[in-house]
Amino acid sequence: MSKPFYVTTPIYYVNGSPHIGSAYTTVLGDILARYHAPAILLTGTDEHGQKVAEAAAARGLTPIAHCDEVQQRFRDAWAKLDIQYHDFIRTTETRHTTVVQKLLQDLRDRGDIYVADYEGWYDIGAEVFVTEKEAAGNPNLRYLKESNYFFRMEKYREQLLAHVETHPDFIKPESRRNEVLSLLRKPTRDLCISRPKSRLQWGITLPFDKDYVTYVWFDALLNYYSADPKRWPADIHLIGKDILTTHTLYWGTMLLALGLEFPKTILAHGWWLIGGDKIAKSAGNAVDPLAFINSHGADAVRYFLASEMVVGQDAEFSEDRFNSRYNSDLANEWGNLLSRVLTMVQKYRSGVTPGYQEVLHSGPRETAEKAIVGLPERLRDAAVHLIAQDAMGVFRAANRLVDAAKPWDLAKTGQRAALDKVLYALVESLRIGALLLEPITPTKSRLTLEQLGNPSKELLWGSTGLYVTNPGPILFPKMDPANVRG
Ligand code: MSP
Repeated sequence: MSKPFYVTTPIYYVNGSPHIGSAYTTVLGDILARYHAPAILLTGTDEHGQKVAEAAAARGLTPIAHCDEVQQRFRDAWAKLDIQYHDFIRTTETRHTTVVQKLLQDLRDRGDIYVADYEGWYDIGAEVFVTEKEAAGNPNLRYLKESNYFFRMEKYREQLLAHVETHPDFIKPESRRNEVLSLLRKPTRDLCISRPKSRLQWGITLPFDKDYVTYVWFDALLNYYSADPKRWPADIHLIGKDILTTHTLYWGTMLLALGLEFPKTILAHGWWLIGGDKIAKSAGNAVDPLAFINSHGADAVRYFLASEMVVGQDAEFSEDRFNSRYNSDLANEWGNLLSRVLTMVQKYRSGVTPGYQEVLHSGPRETAEKAIVGLPERLRDAAVHLIAQDAMGVFRAANRLVDAAKPWDLAKTGQRAALDKVLYALVESLRIGALLLEPITPTKSRLTLEQLGNPSKELLWGSTGLYVTNPGPILFPKMDPANVRG
C-alpha cells in the first residue's frame, strides 16, 4: 500500500488562543489533506519555553494545568471549523519527549552537540541570542554570561544549500525560496540548544546534563517526526512566513545531522492583516474566527480563508470583505443557482433531472472540464484560491446559461429537447462545482449533492443521469449586516 499523503501545520504556542492566523494554516492543512486523501493531517500545540511558563504564572497556574486548558481551546476551535485532523501532538507528551531525548543523545554521541561559554545579549521576547547589531534598539534584552550546549548548524549549512538549489519544489513560493537561498549562502552561528534550569525549568531535560532544558525550537521542530516516525518524511509542512528560518536553516540542518530525509515541500504563506497590520494576539487586534462561524457557518469561513488569500501573499481581513465574498460567491453564484435549477427541475420535469444530454451551449462544460484538468497542477502549488476560483467559474457559467437560454421560454414554446439539454448542463455544473469545492466546503457540497438527488461523485462531465431531486433549505441565506458577528 502506498504511504498516505502527510501534511503538517505548525504546532501552536499555548500562550494565546486560536485566531484567524492559526485558523488559516489549519484550514489550509485540512483542505489539502482532503484533496490528497488518503492523507494524514498532523497539528498540535507547542507547550514548552519561557513564554508559556510566564503565561501560566500570570494566571497562577502550573505550566501543565495551563497547557491542558489551552490545548483544548485549539481542539474545540478546530472542531468548530470542521477540521478533521488525524493526529494532535502536544510537546509535553511522552511519545515526544522520549524521541527528543533520544535524538539529542545521538547528536551528542556523534559530536554534533558541544558545550561552550556564551556571553552576550539575549532577546527575552523571542527567546534567542542576538548579535550586537541585532541588539541595537531592542528594549527586550538581557546581558547573559553562561555555559550552554550548541548544535553544529554551520557544519551542515552548505549541504542544505545544495539541497535547496537542486530541489525547486522544496521551498515555496519562489520568493521565499530565494530568501532562504541568500540566507544559506552566508555562514551562520551554531545553534544554542539549551537553557540553564537556573533561569528556565519548563522544558525537556537534556539527557546528558540534568541542569539544562532543551531550547523550545529544537524541541518543537521534532514534533513532525516524533508524532509517528513511521510517517516520516512529510509531504508538506505548512508554515507562516515568520517561521521560515527555523523551518529551513534549523530544521534542515537538524535533519541532515540526524540522517533523516527532508520533507518534500515547505510552503510558507503570508499574513492576514487588518488595516495593514499583522493580526496577532500580542498586537491586540486578533480576530476571532469563531464569531464568523456562529453567524455564517464553518464552510463560509473556510471558503473565505481559502479564496481570499493568494497562497504565499498577505491578505487583508475585514468584515466587509468577508460579507462581500459571502454574498457574491456563495449566496449569489452558488446558492442562487441551486435554488433556480431545483425550481425549474420541479416545474418542468416533476423533480427528476434529465438523463445524459449532449450540450447545446459549450460554456459550462468547457469551464468545468478546464477546472477538472487543471486540478492536479493547482494542488502541486497548494493554490486553493485558484481551485475556489475555478469552481466558482463553473457556477458563473451556469448562471449565464440560464440568462441566455431562458428555459422558461423553451418550456412555454414546447421545446422539450432543448430544455432538457439546458437543464442537464445546469445540473452537471452544480454537481461538478460542488465536487470541486468539497474539501473547502464539505457540508455545503454534501447538501448540494443531496438536493440534486445524490448523483454520481465521479469528477467527469456527463457521468451522471436521472435523479429524483430533494429541494431543501436555502444553501447560503442572505445575511443581515446588523447581525453578522453573532
Ligand atoms: N510554536 C511556533 C511554531 C512551531 S512549529 C514547529 C509558533 N507558534 S504560533 O502560534 O506563534 O504561530 C503559528 C503559526 O500561525 C505561524 O505559522 C504563524 O505564521 C501563523 N500566524 C500567526 N499570526 C498570523 C497572521 N496574522 N496571519 C497568518 N498567519 C499567522 O510560531
